Amino acid sequence: MLLKNMPKLSSTSALVLLWAQQECYKSKKAKDYLSQLDLEEGKTLYEQCKDACPYYDEVIKNRKFGVFNLIKKSFSNEINIPQLVIAGAGLDALGIEVTEHYPHTKVFEIDSENMDFKSHLFKNSGNKSTANIAFIEIDLLNTSCIYESLLVHGWDPMESTLLILEGISYYIPEKSIQKLVQVIKPDWIIFEFLKQDEEIATGRREIPIRIFGFISSLCKIPHIVRYNYSKVKKLFNMSVEAKYSMRRLEEMRTGANGLFPTEYSGWIEVCLLASKQMEDNLCITRSGFFLRSG
Ligand SMILES: C[S@@+](CC[C@H](N)C(=O)[O-])C[C@H]1O[C@@H](n2cnc3c(N)ncnc32)[C@H](O)[C@@H]1O
Repeated sequence: MLLKNMPKLSSTSALVLLWAQQECYKSKKAKDYLSQLDLEEGKTLYEQCKDACPYYDEVIKNRKFGVFNLIKKSFSNEINIPQLVIAGAGLDALGIEVTEHYPHTKVFEIDSENMDFKSHLFKNSGNKSTANIAFIEIDLLNTSCIYESLLVHGWDPMESTLLILEGISYYIPEKSIQKLVQVIKPDWIIFEFLKQDEEIATGRREIPIRIFGFISSLCKIPHIVRYNYSKVKKLFNMSVEAKYSMRRLEEMRTGANGLFPTEYSGWIEVCLLASKQMEDNLCITRSGFFLRSG
């Protein structure tokens, strides 16, 4: 049931939820939470984007499938990751879904908007306890306060953290993302990004330009940030444990490649990064003794 007096939602967050069409999350908690949202705020943007790319919902479903798949992959590498931070969580239900799959992991959601409202919706959907999830309203550009805010909410800097950067890398300057990572020092990062033009098939380059053009002009975002893997590695000084192109994501999710036949036909990519420490631990575990290829 929709709530009366809902605050104005972020149009980008509402847009992503319209694209995802409530089918990405399976847990009861996530479904109950999502059923309360009125996504009207994202409808104009949604219609504009549909004109530019009628199948954009498939891109988002593939991306969300990839992020969850990489969460599972991280947990298979490190059996219990005690902390998960979602930066730019918006109204997405990922953190809520994680609390059901991994009840021993504490989730910290960060966004500059609507976190009190999200907490309210979470409690309203029958969740009495917020012991394993925190909704923190803070600007990600304000990196000096993020450390303190996380501590106040029970985050432990000595424990391992998986940081999720989904749907946010385009909007935040590289330096600010780098600072955030230096503050949190995660062992794992799931990083989703927009590729650079040279790595996208010429016939597809126009799609992200139009989609992100609509988003930038509506949300007054001056610059959309794009990445490639050498930039990602340099920025975070971490190793790439897994990388999923849109071709691969579509194949994993749907079992076929209808819309994304080649590596170049997609413009969004999702990857898992591991800290040097974690990479060393994985080398030891996988080989039975310390063996590195240089
Ligand atoms: C496209 S939504 C992504 C939501 C979710 N991560 C997903 O992928 O479905 C982007 C979110 O980033 C948040 N955001 C953008 N800039 C931010 C900033 N400087 N600090 C905190 N949050 C920010 C917006 O409020 C919005 O909720």
